[in-house]
Amino acid sequence: MDPVIERILFTEEQIAARIREVGAEISSKYAGRELKLIGVLKGSIYFLTALSREISVPVKIDLLAISSFMKGAPGVVRIAKDLDDTIEGEDVLLVEDIIDTGLTIRYLLQTLASRRPRSLGLCTLLDRTTRRLVPVPIDFRCFEIPDRFVVGFGLDYKQLYRNLGYIGVLRHEHF
Ligand code: IMP
Ligand code: MG
Repeated sequence: MDPVIERILFTEEQIAARIREVGAEISSKYAGRELKLIGVLKGSIYFLTALSREISVPVKIDLLAISSFMKGAPGVVRIAKDLDDTIEGEDVLLVEDIIDTGLTIRYLLQTLASRRPRSLGLCTLLDRTTRRLVPVPIDFRCFEIPDRFVVGFGLDYKQLYRNLGYIGVLRHEHF
């Protein structure tokens, strides 16, 4: 275990097993249809690729990046890199690494809904409900986590630790 990690919340094996279950749920919900997974850079790419391989319906992927200005105005988010393609008329599943206050995802859901997809769902690897500021409709969720800062499996602290295979709580002195 990396010395900056206080404790492991979910091992690589637990994450893989849970993603398999959620992938099966998604496959049955979208049976007979084609699904577009939209990942939010950079945190969700690890989850997105693992999840996509556990989904049995035909899948397309696209990515977007956002920048948030949390200091001045919480919830003010800008699309820094937009999707490559339109989503009009498509079944879209937005894939996030973590939903915390919910402000980022609320903005993204509103923006994507205005592009008139056939359906718009939300799937998150982690859900920290204790800090939620706005209600968020989560369709698929892998794990709920306690009110601690976590890294690994795509989640970063100052851009580091995304490549840890597990998800762990960062030691206090490191953030
Ligand atoms: P929110 O839901 O708008 O508050 O923002 C969620 C975003 O904050 C995520 O996409 C992450 O980039 C970041 N974030 C929130 N909590 C954590 C954490 O515990 N570890 C790493 N990043 C986090
Ligand atoms: Mg981040």
